This record gives sequence, structure tokens and C-alpha cells, in this order.
Amino acid sequence: MKIISSPAEMQQTALELKRSGKTIGLVPTMGFLHNGHLSLMKLARPECDVLVVSIFVNPAQFGPNEDLDAYPRDFERDESLCKGEGVDIVFYPEPGNMYFSDASVWIDEEALSPGLCGGSRPGHFRGVCTVVAKLFNLVLPDLAVFGEKDAQQLRVLERMVRDLNFPVRMVRGPIVREADGLAMSSRNKYLNAEQRQQALCLKQALALAESLVRGGEKSVANIRQQMVVLIGTVPGAEIDYIELVDDETLARVENVESETLVALAVKIGPTRLIDNAVLHP
Ligand code: PAJ
Repeated sequence: MKIISSPAEMQQTALELKRSGKTIGLVPTMGFLHNGHLSLMKLARPECDVLVVSIFVNPAQFGPNEDLDAYPRDFERDESLCKGEGVDIVFYPEPGNMYFSDASVWIDEEALSPGLCGGSRPGHFRGVCTVVAKLFNLVLPDLAVFGEKDAQQLRVLERMVRDLNFPVRMVRGPIVREADGLAMSSRNKYLNAEQRQQALCLKQALALAESLVRGGEKSVANIRQQMVVLIGTVPGAEIDYIELVDDETLARVENVESETLVALAVKIGPTRLIDNAVLHP
């Protein structure tokens, strides 16, 4: 397994691989890897000749008061986990080498980004789209795998690939959870034992929505209200948003009549966690 930290070397390597007829798979990450990330590598591995994992805590997608500096990092551990998944190249650039100090071109997706996480984190998806476009240009992947854990990110990036004609096949990886239902996340590391318990309310609220819909409930107002009540019983949990939106357009819906994405962000103490599910009426 090779570690490449220079963007120029990454692109040169990718160009040579492509010229020799190899297919490239990419799993972009911000590191501090867990089984969610590894599941994406397992999906990509059989689909490509050369598997690249990028590890880059992207400053451009963090707001001024967010956790960029505190974001957990452990490169040695990440490296050995990548080895275990048969990764060929870990691309591990430094922020100073990824962005020109006077960079002035950014990618803004305008239809799917403004709501949900984009509402609470202005500029977030601009940072995500820009870094993923840069990674695509440096790694030249035939396919790239993203997790459904970040449902809005996945849809925004699929739209970017469509609208800007990136020759990349986008693959969706299902959400990987802990045994008790908590969606795996690098940010779970911030939770103490009590908060770790409280964090279960995200998945419980989603399960409630799913069971209401199974029972025939269609009204988004009713479903949302019951989710709010459930989370309201958990001390230390503060709702950022709970939204039920059309699974494709991410526009708010009043009734669950077609595939509906139920997505939420909840702060457990200072830690903001997200989770989601797709409701099938
Ligand atoms: P990061 O949060 O490290 O996540 C990297 C990839 O892993 C994303 O596609 C994310 O959806 C996926 N992932 C995270 N937790 C998961 C889980 N529990 N189950 C399945 N997949 C999971 O998302 C980012 O980094 C960044 O925004 C990035 C795309 C790398 C751009 O900087």
C-alpha cells in the first residue's frame, strides 16, 4: 500500500494507471475510520483494479465556529485499517497543498443544498462539492463510493456529477450502525458514556417514524410532532432539525405518499449528530 501526500504525484500516478488501462475506485473520507468507512471500501474493492482512499479533513466544509481543529485524527490507525481492506493507495494531502491561498473557484449546488444540513451549516456543501471535484480531478476515479449516512451530501454530489458531466460512477453504501442502532460516525468519539446513551434517540425517532408510516400514518406534521416529543424526553438532546422531504428533490412534503427521506440533526451536548431513513409508504 502506497501513501501519497502530494496532489501532483497523486494525479501523475492516476494518469499512468489510466494509461495502462487500470480502473480506479475512490472512497473519500476525513479519516478516523470506522466500520462505516470500511464498508464503502468493501463495496469498492471488487469493482476496480486500484482502490484509492483519501483522508483529508477538508477545512472548506467547516464553518468558523465548527470542530475543524477538534476533529479526531489518527493516521497510523487509519493506515492499518486501509491495509486490512486491501487498499492500494492512501491519498493523504496537507491542507496547504490542497488549496491555493488565493483560490477563487468553488462549486455551488443550488437546488438540494440550501435545506437540512445546508440550512444549519451555510457554505458546507460548497466546501464538500469543491473538495470532491478536486479529488475526482486528482484521483481520476471510474467509480466513487459514498455513504447513505450523509443522505443530503450523497444527493448533492450525485447532482454535481450529473450536471458537470464527471465521468464517475457513483455508488451508494448503506448506513452502518452500532449494535444498539447508533449510526457510526467519527464524531461519536466526542460522546461520554451518558451522551452515548442519549444519542440513541436519533435512531429511535427514525424507527418511530417508520413504524407510524407502516401503521398507515401519512401526515408529516403528525409524524414530525411525535419525533419531537420523543427527542424532547431525552435530557441533553437539542433538535437542530427534523425534516421529511421528497427523497429525490429534498423538497418538503406534507404527506408521505412516495419515497420520503426523514432526516434529522440533533445536538447531544455540544456534539451535533445526524441520521436518516427512507420511508416507503
Ligand atoms: P466522512 O464523514 O469521513 O465520511 C466519509 C464517507 O463515509 C462518506 O461517504 C460518509 O457518508 C460515509 N459514512 C460515514 N459514516 C457512515 C456510516 N455509519 N455508514 C455508512 N457510510 C458512512 O463525508 C465526508 O467524510 C466528507 O464530507 C467527504 C465526502 C470526505 C468530503 O470531504
